[in-house]
Amino acid sequence: VLPSAVALVPAAGLGTRLGAGPPKALRLLAGEPLLTHAVRALAAARLVEQVVVAAPPGDEAQVQALVPEALVVTGGDTRTASVAAALAAADPAYDVVLVHDAARPLVPPELVDAVAVTVLEGAAQAVVPALPVADTIKRVDGAGLVLETVERADLRAVQTPQGFRRAVLAEAHARAAGLPATDDAGLVERLGITVLTITGHDDAFKITRPADLDFAEALLAGRRARA
Ligand code: C5P
Repeated sequence: VLPSAVALVPAAGLGTRLGAGPPKALRLLAGEPLLTHAVRALAAARLVEQVVVAAPPGDEAQVQALVPEALVVTGGDTRTASVAAALAAADPAYDVVLVHDAARPLVPPELVDAVAVTVLEGAAQAVVPALPVADTIKRVDGAGLVLETVERADLRAVQTPQGFRRAVLAEAHARAAGLPATDDAGLVERLGITVLTITGHDDAFKITRPADLDFAEALLAGRRARA
């Protein structure tokens, strides 16, 4: 068992909310695909030794050329299927597995290490970065009528990378069997395993809508001006 981590990158999503164009992970940010930025950030983390990317079906060769240092596998129909495919290909010698969205290209390497170290130190078998939410959140019914206002102080917006003991993530995916999930910690919670949050980072936000790309460009330009 190695005292370091493997990072899985689901990158097979279409990104339809971004509008027409290539798969989301291949959209450009400052002239480079989101995936290239994300893999660079993971590789810059001290504790990450292997990166496995789940590519959009048909784009494997293009993705491999973009990230020669990564192991590239074919992604699936859902994010969960893409993560499962990457996990199956990861070197089983790593006891800690991180899962990071290609759509979060500007994650600071320090956050990646913070998640990995929290799992490695045994604080929990599953660790996720999270931030307080800015908006008030309401539960609504199908007609848009408000059912309740959720206490905001109790809410967190969860980011990636999410970190797991390998066996826990493998068990969660083995039991997932097609159930919908927007993150891996959600699958782990279904096993009754406690998930610990640590403080996330604003820069780990997910690119979803066109304006997110503009924001990322500005953030990157600011970083480069300060460097
Ligand atoms: O769609 P969403 O923004 O939630 O996607 C989060 C991440 O999951 C993205 O990096 C996307 O490429 C990935 N994904 C995937 N396979 C899918 C769907 C999404 O790898 N079938």
